[in-house]
Amino acid sequence: MISGDVQVGADSEMLQRLVIFGGAGDLTRRYLLPALSRLQAAGRLPSGFEIVAADRDDIATNAYREAAAGWLAQHAPTVASTARHDLARMLVYRQADALDPGSVHETLQPDLGPTAVYLALPPSVFGPAIAALTSAGLPSGSRLGIEKPFGTSLAHARELNRLVRRCLPEDAVFRIDHFLGMQMVQNLVGLRFANRVLEPVWNCHHVDAVEIVWDETLTLEGRGYYDAVGALRDMVQNHLLQLLALVGMEPPARLDARGLRDRKTDLLRAVRRFSPEEVDRHTVRARYTAGSVRGRQVPAYLDEEGVDRDRDTETFVQVTLRVDNWRWAGVPFVLRTGKALATDRREITIRFRPVPLPALAGAAPPNLLRIPLDPESLSLDLNLNAAGERFGFERVSLAQPMAPPRLPAYGWVLLALLGGDPMLSIRADEAEESWAIIEPILDAWAAGVAPLSSYAAGSHGPGQP
Ligand code: BG6
Repeated sequence: MISGDVQVGADSEMLQRLVIFGGAGDLTRRYLLPALSRLQAAGRLPSGFEIVAADRDDIATNAYREAAAGWLAQHAPTVASTARHDLARMLVYRQADALDPGSVHETLQPDLGPTAVYLALPPSVFGPAIAALTSAGLPSGSRLGIEKPFGTSLAHARELNRLVRRCLPEDAVFRIDHFLGMQMVQNLVGLRFANRVLEPVWNCHHVDAVEIVWDETLTLEGRGYYDAVGALRDMVQNHLLQLLALVGMEPPARLDARGLRDRKTDLLRAVRRFSPEEVDRHTVRARYTAGSVRGRQVPAYLDEEGVDRDRDTETFVQVTLRVDNWRWAGVPFVLRTGKALATDRREITIRFRPVPLPALAGAAPPNLLRIPLDPESLSLDLNLNAAGERFGFERVSLAQPMAPPRLPAYGWVLLALLGGDPMLSIRADEAEESWAIIEPILDAWAAGVAPLSSYAAGSHGPGQP
């Protein structure tokens, strides 16, 4: 974000109530409650704020609060214990079936006024859950947050958008992508458009390749939904394509939600839809086998709990996309992500073309602009004369670590939902354009193109040590 802050409305416009369906699930435990505790610690939650955690299990509110205190101790240990305690007291647990309109109505208690509803559910049940919300009737002024991935295919995303339109106006719908809440991701717009030196070289005449990498040492670690989804749908369809859109888009007409989303959508429309032959040449999919990640023994993905051995679920994907527009013609955009890899490397790298002087080209490696996303920093690799040498160069890296973010990514995203700022979420057409890029890859894979390969857990990926 240009100002380094989310432009949410004044506190009076913040919704006073958040209902989380999937309130006992992994996302709520690991991300939503910890982020809410940080918002509480930062004084960003309105007084009298209430959080209703709704899920299928029969749990008393007190027992839920106790469990929540444990999750917060594990996932938000640096948040002041008073803030964690205060947050636990805002929690109310309700047993509910998110797919049953009667149960949803009871949980929403529409008389209590506008509510932020968060679907922390797997994509397979978004449709019935949105239909149930529509039948139950959301109080006017309510907003809906829908966790990613937004559907499982283009047709599914379209269907979900149709259902959502019947439920709420588009500006009240927040298709969540927490990467948009990361500080460095918010800063991409400022980096690109508030620095005159970058824009003239930000194109195919000067850029050789763009790499967007999200390598994780993390393994499956109990994320049950992942097996039905895989790396392409879990990470590329949303997070990495959003990064691509922000890196590649044209300058927005206005620095507001519409300006940004218009330009991101344009960029996504320009990404080439691959033929099966291009899928074969430009995609790699793989799954980890047993190995050791940072000294920890990791079982093969297929031996992880809850994994269906008959599925071809990939835990690693690399896709080299092309953006067929005037700015980016011919520039490869390499998107890569995987689990159980040797290192946590999360960064965008812009590699510039070699200098056009043949006499220097070999001696002067290409300039690199690196944008690490976690931890966040920025560095530019330049070639400078080595001491005492006229045409010998040494590499100099101008590096700047960023101040730690004031809030975690989910903190910004939740604040935007509660405050009604759509900037940090995905618009209906953006979601569909992203699926339109992914769909030909999924179809070709289903037909056996680019067969699934493997890599040892703890390695740098398929074919690498
Ligand atoms: C989630 C993906 O959206 O993002 C996970 O479902 C991934 O598979 C995670 O590990 C990465 O984001 P973070 O913020 O947990 O590093």
